[in-house]
Amino acid sequence: MRWSDAIYERLTAGGRSPLAVVGLGYVGLPLALAFSRCFRVVGYDTDPRRIAQLRGGVDASGAFGPEDFRECGIRFSSSEEALAEAVFYVVAVPTPVDARRRPDLSCLDEATRTVGRCLRPGDCVVFESTVWPGCTEERCVPLLESVSGLVAGRDFKVGYSPERINPGDREHTLSRTVKVVAGCDAETLDGVAAVYGRVIGAGVFRAASIRVAEAAKMLENVQRDVNIALMNECAVLFRELGIDTAATLEAAATKWNFVRVAPGLVGGHCIGVDPYYLLEKAAGTGVRIPVVQSARAVNEGMVGYVARALLDELRAGDATISPPLAGWRVLQLGITYKENVADCRNSKAAELFGELTRAGVEVDAADPCADAGCVREMYGIELTERLRPPYDLVLVAVPHDAYRSLGEEYFLSIVKPGGCVADLRSVYRNKIHALRYWSL
Ligand SMILES: NC(=O)c1ccc[n+]([C@@H]2O[C@H](COP(=O)([O-])OP(=O)(O)OC[C@H]3O[C@@H](n4cnc5c(N)ncnc54)[C@H](O)[C@@H]3O)[C@@H](O)[C@H]2O)c1
Repeated sequence: MRWSDAIYERLTAGGRSPLAVVGLGYVGLPLALAFSRCFRVVGYDTDPRRIAQLRGGVDASGAFGPEDFRECGIRFSSSEEALAEAVFYVVAVPTPVDARRRPDLSCLDEATRTVGRCLRPGDCVVFESTVWPGCTEERCVPLLESVSGLVAGRDFKVGYSPERINPGDREHTLSRTVKVVAGCDAETLDGVAAVYGRVIGAGVFRAASIRVAEAAKMLENVQRDVNIALMNECAVLFRELGIDTAATLEAAATKWNFVRVAPGLVGGHCIGVDPYYLLEKAAGTGVRIPVVQSARAVNEGMVGYVARALLDELRAGDATISPPLAGWRVLQLGITYKENVADCRNSKAAELFGELTRAGVEVDAADPCADAGCVREMYGIELTERLRPPYDLVLVAVPHDAYRSLGEEYFLSIVKPGGCVADLRSVYRNKIHALRYWSL
């Protein structure tokens, strides 16, 4: 029997050996829930608090409700022993950058060692964590071999399937998005494609190799970063030239091959992080990738640029007050790293709050999606429960759905006459007439 048929049979017929998802965060939990519809699933995470919540049907990220856990049958555990019977491992642990913006592979190394200790002949390990091209085969496979004492390819199989979920996006869900899969050889590719094919309604794409799948993920996010950087760079220039960027984008987008991307702050754990993995790999090979490097610098510089622009707006609104800016009051709407998510990690909106307060401005911050405790813990920011109008400026930093329907009437009720609505993502473009309006 081919290995691909054998692994599938072990997961389905003949005792239904479990599939284990290692790391139950934004990526791992949806995977575990999806796989649980077809296979017996063990969900392993080193965070006991997370496990306790999941056992109680609570997903702190807000992506899933109690009904999604009902009858899912997943065995959630923070004990390595729960992995003992697994035959198919999916690793979805974080791959962040450290304070110097260098790749931090400590979670991936630790998870790989954990799997290595449980691995037995015939098993398969699929990595989902975003890494530089070559990392799975050069770093994870040797680690699996040394810990397990088994030989990759012969005793166990390795695959890679980059994750494409977009938190907060109800349209491009896991099942509705084509999933790239790769394997260390042809039969592994068949086996991995068969397992994922059961749960991904949109189907799987068989990448030519693990390196290709890793590189494809890098390219997807690096392309977004570069495109946004280009728009940010042009938005800064257009502003100096007195040209409306949103109107310019609208006009340019009428050309058939124009790629429409809006300027904005780039936070979170993917677009703002993955390019550093590619930069690290490129540096190791002695190849310069200046476009990727510059894009990062441009996007990292945007918080400072926006803060300076908002301070100018405040000054323009009240020429009688000269710096320091004590006395000016701003309401910031949105603190999470992007719209419609609860996640505040690596949030540029939170950095912007910090820049404004350091300049002496008094800022109230509100966010209907964020967990106030997390915001306090991570940034020392106390979310405002009751607004204290009137404000000199209202900054809509993160356009959550709850904010999109706000109209000028609302802003007029909380902004001082002659005050400003700063609309980072141009959600209220052409809708604000009686107040000053600022947008990127
Ligand atoms: N969040 C996204 O939108 C997204 C999208 C595509 C790809 N990715 C990539 O997917 C990977 C996972 O990201 P995420 O956003 O789900 O991370 P996350 O921080 O939401 O969750 C990771 C989980 O892994 C757990 N964990 C950490 N070390 C562990 C270990 N050694 N063993 C078991 N569990 C461990 C943590 O406790 C946490 O619950 C990263 O490589 C990321 O770059 C993320």
